[in-house]
Amino acid sequence: MIITCPKCARKHKVNPDALKPFADAGKKNIMASCKSCKFKFPVALSSLLSSEEPIDMQRRPGSLARKICITLSKGGVGKTTTSVNLGAGLALAGYKVLLVDTDTQGQSSYILGKRPGAGLTELLTRELTISDCLTEARKNLWLLSGGKSLAGVKRIIDKKSFGAEFTLSEALTPLDDQFDFILIDTSPGWDQLIVNVLFYSTEVLVPVALEAMPLHGMSEFIKSLGAIQKYKREIQLKYIVPTFLDLRIKGPKLLYDQLRKLYPQQLCKPIRYNENLADAPSFGKTIFEFAPGSTASEDYRSLVRTVSGNEYALLK
Ligand SMILES: Nc1ncnc2c1ncn2[C@@H]1O[C@H](COP(=O)(O)OP(=O)(O)OP(=O)(O)O)[C@@H](O)[C@H]1O
Ligand SMILES: [Mg+2]
Repeated sequence: MIITCPKCARKHKVNPDALKPFADAGKKNIMASCKSCKFKFPVALSSLLSSEEPIDMQRRPGSLARKICITLSKGGVGKTTTSVNLGAGLALAGYKVLLVDTDTQGQSSYILGKRPGAGLTELLTRELTISDCLTEARKNLWLLSGGKSLAGVKRIIDKKSFGAEFTLSEALTPLDDQFDFILIDTSPGWDQLIVNVLFYSTEVLVPVALEAMPLHGMSEFIKSLGAIQKYKREIQLKYIVPTFLDLRIKGPKLLYDQLRKLYPQQLCKPIRYNENLADAPSFGKTIFEFAPGSTASEDYRSLVRTVSGNEYALLK
């Protein structure tokens, strides 16, 4: 449980047991005092005591998470939408999932309707422990949130003179045996944090928007991935997920056929264009909660089956 000082933004860990007597005595608020800047501010007890349950770190001993990054340098192709809904779908299917948001836009928490007090930044800077940085977003679905503060982390990584590309791996490795899937959403572009994500992940999922020039973005990305593979052999381009498929127009279908010829092994069933996917985030809901009967929900359920290799997952 974390309180953030509204004045200096310093994060403080709070022991819930110390707060219970105040709640039991009927108090609604307590006065908190920042240990760093000494600022005093009121905090609603309900917001503290209703927060997440303790983290269940019990899993099958010995099994390691599959680490899948969802990435493409091009912006707006459906990376975050796919990360969140694939993660939520795998969680609904009973897998234990961690979603890591490495984007400064911090969209994953918004889509899941969460405002975490801490996330990936605090983990990478070692300000807080792993369990303090994780947010339980749904049953089986945990979030390491991103956001603006990651910009500072990128500067720290840039300044490292040795082993900078392993910064993320070093911080996340203790979680390898705690989850079935670790999904990593990335920002558009190409920077030191994305290189870190590729050095950490073992599988790559690329969403490709079926619009003008998707193949150009793909081939550029495959070149960059090839450069990483020289140093990290086990990373593989596993899934290509066409997004924004609109069958009413000819272009997307032609692009889909081209992708099928070029990448027959990796190509997955497309995610169709569906406005529910654009509307769900403002309600803080996944597609399965917002529009369970939609084509988008059907398409993401199918992706869950492909990625998990479980043909019975989320069948109606
Ligand atoms: N299949 C779809 N049909 C309709 N709208 C979609 C679909 N997939 C995603 N969207 C919407 O398109 C926009 C871009 O999607 P998203 O944010 O997932 O892309 P992104 O690749 O993560 O973008 P960025 O590169 O900026 O991080 C969002 O508003 C999202 O809700
Ligand atoms: Mg995104």
